[in-house]
Amino acid sequence: MRSLPSPRGPVSELLLGRLLDDPGVLPPNEPVPSGDPLADEDLQLALYLCYELHYRGLPGVDDGWEWEPSLLALRRELQSVFERALLDAVPPVREPVVAAEIDLALRAIAEEDGPSLSSYVKVSAGLDQIREFVVHRSAYQLKEADPHSWAIPRLSGAPKAALIEIQTDEYGRGRVEWIHAELFARAMRALGLDPDYGAYLDVIPGVTLATVNLMSLFGLHRRWRGAIVGHLALFEMTSSIPNRRYAEGLRRLGFDGDATLFFEEHVTADAVHEAIAAVDLAGGLVHQDETLGADIVWGARALSLLDARWATHVLRCWGEGRTSLLRDLTHSESGAVANPVVASG
Ligand SMILES: [Fe+2]
Ligand SMILES: [Fe+2]
Repeated sequence: MRSLPSPRGPVSELLLGRLLDDPGVLPPNEPVPSGDPLADEDLQLALYLCYELHYRGLPGVDDGWEWEPSLLALRRELQSVFERALLDAVPPVREPVVAAEIDLALRAIAEEDGPSLSSYVKVSAGLDQIREFVVHRSAYQLKEADPHSWAIPRLSGAPKAALIEIQTDEYGRGRVEWIHAELFARAMRALGLDPDYGAYLDVIPGVTLATVNLMSLFGLHRRWRGAIVGHLALFEMTSSIPNRRYAEGLRRLGFDGDATLFFEEHVTADAVHEAIAAVDLAGGLVHQDETLGADIVWGARALSLLDARWATHVLRCWGEGRTSLLRDLTHSESGAVANPVVASG
């Protein structure tokens, strides 16, 4: 990320107005989202910025802000608004889910019908739309697997081994060129996009940032360790087929090589990951602690909801012939290379 994004309301304004100073006490603030907390621009951007301090940090921002108590207090306020909205939209799972039923329960969520962005990309999306799709996804994919890694020290035994097995692949098995986030950066470059971490934060809407904030919320809180495991399991279980469609959409437009490699890699890798995640990781965790079954299922449902809302937003915007980002890429500063490299043949 080369520069901080623009504020989108009073909370992100307060934050962005202070973050370039030395760490210190933030003025008290009562975040009141003006609209839907699950997509509110101000709330989701402010939360994303607070979480980002735990990942790569923010440009020009002192690392000391990460643990500044008044910033953490603000983050907790934002989080509780977000969390309450999630719990309203996805009621907590009251009935216990035993280890033997976890795989089936997750599979049932994975098989629910939702808006299929990947089917649209496969058959109909134009290059501008595919580039927009990739920009949305960059909010997570450039730090792919990192939010789930927060769960590692919170697990032990068999589920920990299962999580490590998945994460080892995500991080390229020791080879930088196979780190999934690096593969995604290569795809961005091949599509004429800026692969710099956070380059497009300013144009990525709250409805998309919410999908990443969900993972950070789950990953950073031990009390949500079941939810982050359920999130990862469903993520892996719903990855193979859509990624094949994304690759097919790109090939339809004449792309291959670096542009399609990330998506093709996920067709095969996630076919393996889904079984490990559902059975060994999620099932294994409930084996150890029966009380976590409900949270695992709830975490998966929360992912499913936010993903469907994101896909609905993107498809609705495209259906109305407008950008699904906050600004059209061609008019945005972090724009892109004018002529993406289209593979011949
Ligand atoms: Fe991956
Ligand atoms: Fe995976």
